[in-house]
This record gives sequence, C-alpha cells and structure tokens, in this order.
Amino acid sequence: MSTLTTSAGAPVPDDNNSISVGPRGPLTFDNHYLFEKLAHFNRERIPERVVHARGTGAYGTFTLTKSLSDRTIASFLQQIGDKTEVFVRFSTVGGGQDSSDFARDPRGFAIKFYTREGNFDLVGNNTPVFFLNDPIKFPDFIHSQKKDPQTNLPNPANAYEFWANHPQSLHQMTILMSDRGIPASYRHMHGFSSHTLSFWNDKGERVWVKWHIKSNQGIKTVTADEAAKLPTHGTQQDLVEAIARGEFPSWTVKVQIMTEAEARTYKINPFDLTKVWPHSDYPLIEIGQLELNRNVDSYFAETEQSAFAPSNLVPGIGASPDKMLQARLLAYQDAHRYRVGVNANQLPVNAARCPVHHYQRDGAMAAGCPVTGHGASANSLHQIPNFYPNDRAGVSPAPAARYAQPALPVLEDAWIGYHDQSDEDYYSQPGALFRLMDAEQKQQLFNNIAAGLSQANASIQERILAQFHRADPAYAAGVKAALEAIAKA
Ligand code: HEM
Repeated sequence: MSTLTTSAGAPVPDDNNSISVGPRGPLTFDNHYLFEKLAHFNRERIPERVVHARGTGAYGTFTLTKSLSDRTIASFLQQIGDKTEVFVRFSTVGGGQDSSDFARDPRGFAIKFYTREGNFDLVGNNTPVFFLNDPIKFPDFIHSQKKDPQTNLPNPANAYEFWANHPQSLHQMTILMSDRGIPASYRHMHGFSSHTLSFWNDKGERVWVKWHIKSNQGIKTVTADEAAKLPTHGTQQDLVEAIARGEFPSWTVKVQIMTEAEARTYKINPFDLTKVWPHSDYPLIEIGQLELNRNVDSYFAETEQSAFAPSNLVPGIGASPDKMLQARLLAYQDAHRYRVGVNANQLPVNAARCPVHHYQRDGAMAAGCPVTGHGASANSLHQIPNFYPNDRAGVSPAPAARYAQPALPVLEDAWIGYHDQSDEDYYSQPGALFRLMDAEQKQQLFNNIAAGLSQANASIQERILAQFHRADPAYAAGVKAALEAIAKA
C-alpha cells in the first residue's frame, strides 16, 4: 500500500484528526496539511461553460471510407481505411451542470479529430440549422432561453418573446418543439456541422461543405411526459454504460458539397445558418464511420476541461462567410482562456497528437510540456529562441506557405455596413418541414408549443401565430386550437 502524501509529496501521518491543543482544545497553526486540503477543495470547480454546461464525453475512432483527395488536402481524408482518434462531447445547451439530460433543448455534438496536422474540431449540434444567422443576437437569445434572472426559474414567456421578435428562429424552433425535440439518448441522435465549412485541394480549388453525422443506432426520442419521469443523468449513464459493456455506438459520416460557382447563384444563401441545403439539390456523400469506444478516466480532467473551438481547423478545411461561424472563431478560444486557462491546449484531452512548435511561452499553468510531450518542449526551450524570425533556421519552426488556403474573392459590390436580413424567407423551410410530419407528429408539435406559449401574453401569441401562418396556415390553426384547449382546461 502506498503512503498518503501532501500534494508536494511529503508523507502524511494522520488524515482523520487535525492537530489540536489537547482533545478538547482549538486547532494549531501547524495544521498545514488540513489547510492544504480545505484550500484545494475550495478550488475544485472551474467556471462552467456559459452554454452547453452539462455534457458527457468519450473517445473513439473516425475511419475514412471514401477518399476526398480530389477535394481537400486534409491529411485524415486521403486514404480509405485511415483511422483518426477522436474525442466527442455531447451536451444540452441551456441548463447548468446539474440540470436534466432530458430537457427540450438542442444537443451539442462536438467532435475533436486528432489529425496528423493538428486538431480539427467540428463543434456542431443535433440539428442542421440554428435559431440565428447573426452572432450579435447570441447573448440575447441565450438570456431569453435560460432561467429568469429574477426568479431563477424557467420562463417560457421570455423564450417566446424572443422568438416573436425573431422569425429567423422559426425553423430551429419548429424542430425543437417537434417530436425530435428530446433525444432519448446521445447514441440515438444525429449530429450536424450546421454551418457551411469548406474543403480546399492542392489545385487551389475550394468547395463549400456541410457535415452530417447519422446515428447507426437510429433515432429515439421521448415525449415531454416521458422525459419528466426519467433520471436527470439518464443520457450520461446510457452512454457510459453502453461503452463499458462494449456496445460501441457509431455514426455514418456524410457531407454535402457545393461548388463556389454554384454558391454564387444558388436560390438559398448557402451561408445562412437558419436554412438547410435540400438533399434533392445536394445529396449526402458518405465518407466515413465514427465510433465511440473508450470512456474517460477522469470526468473533470477530460470532459470538463475539454476545449472545442470552431477555429481548430486543419490544412484542407476552412471556414466560410457564415456570419455566425465567424463569430464562433473568436468566442470559443476566448471562453477557454477564461474557463480553463491560456494553456488549455497543453492538457492531454486538448493536446494535438502531432508535434506542436510555436513561440508562445509561459502563462498560467504552462507545462512546458512534460504533460503532453508536445508544445514548448524542453528541447525546444533550450535550442529555439522565443521570437520569430530568427537566424537559427533548421532548429526553429517557420511558417509554410503551402498551407495557405485559396484566397476568397469578394464577388459583389460589397459595402461595409449593417445589412438588414429581416426580409429573408424564414418561412418556406419550416413550412416544408411541417408538411412532412404525420398527424400525430403535428399534434405533438402543437401541444409542445402551446404548453410554453400559453404562458406568454396575447401580443406575443399573436405575432408567433402570424409566423406559423406564413409557414403553413394549418400550423397556425393547430397551435391556436391547442392554446384554446389549454385555456378551457
Ligand atoms: C454566435 C454564435 C455562438 C456563440 C457566440 C457561441 C458560444 C459558445 C461558448 C462561449 C461556448 C462555451 C465554450 C467553452 O466554454 O468551452 C459554446 C459551447 C458550445 N457551442 Fe456554441 N456558440 C454559438 C453558436 C453555436 C452553434 C451555431 C452551434 C452548433 C452548430 C454551437 C455549438 C456549441 C457546442 C456543441 C458547444 C459545447 C462544446 C463542448 O462540448 O465543449 N454553438 N458556445
């Protein structure tokens, strides 16, 4: 049996009794082990994620089944059969760390691919669209969906007040309120990049890409009534236990591809996050299999400190002009500096599996980097200056121009300024989705909406009903009837 030690490694003689002045007397100041224990305990928490606070993570493998070498130089998308280690974190969005896994809420589906040329993070959701297409609305939107700041209670009236003023949310709101709104488990839901990203190849050609991660377990959902009876930790337990018993969940990875030329004239703005690209125009192309096969050893060290960033892109994969995505390129690294620290990427769960060479030095918790064996490694600190350029070619890292992505032309007569997007068509796609639902699914949609909307005032109800009407008159009529049924009850 090993000897218990302080955090500095000194043996501890007694861990049940503090040092005191006689059995009934006060404690003495040489209780430094007690002080260390209490002080460390006080600091066990780091700030929870401002959104997606409640989550579950696991490791796995991405296996390529179709080479994309004609489309991208991304190292992990070249050879059929190539396997890339991944870490995936699933989450709900609005609730705090101890909220229910079964909230009616989108689910985060974040994948970190540890590729040979750095980490590629696909930080997506279980829905192909989002509530917004301008990031300036994100804090307002999240405030309206989280607990009321005064009562600290859920307040559906706030949520609907936001939606009444933002028809761009209608598509995602319709998905959320549908029978797909509460996944029964993380294994039984799809994932999406939602955003348009890009691929670029060695000929300098770029295409626009949407990622779809399709559950091989199928889709399973629960109703609001069923959800209310389920344990709050249900989806965490489901995933951990499935992996522990060797029943590894898997997903088929597909992409939609649009050329730059097509994007210029396509009827839908391909960079509007509130809209999908119909599969009839852009069919899904299968490219690989994602499997989760290893639970974390430490929930805190790995899942809680995992740091996903849409700015983690690798050569051959780029961002797009999607305004939301562009803001996310900044927001996540900023969140990590606050939540985990400036050296978050040195932690094993976040560290690249390939060598890391740069001129960033020091900062809180700089490992330098015995933890990962990467980063500002001991030998580089000895040999390499902490500035660039320098005269020590051969030992010091230098940028490589071949990794520059193709320049993106500005094609329109583009004026810098505020561009109002409020007269976009935010109704056709939710209307089409509504018409795909069978009678029972429609009724669930009406009831789910009415449950919350009935708590909002008449003006909010009217404006939301007008949105539904523009999507499909039967949508508005169904919700209206469900509201009337609640009012009569
Ligand atoms: C302008 C829009 C957005 C902003 C400013 C934003 C901001 C954030 C922030 C600050 C976090 C916490 C990060 C951390 O502490 O590690 C987060 C987490 C997350 N966001 Fe967003 N977000 C936006 C839109 C989206 C969209 C559109 C999606 C999905 C398509 C998304 C998916 C996620 C996921 C999955 C996480 C959790 C990642 C994890 O598991 O650690 N977000 N977001």
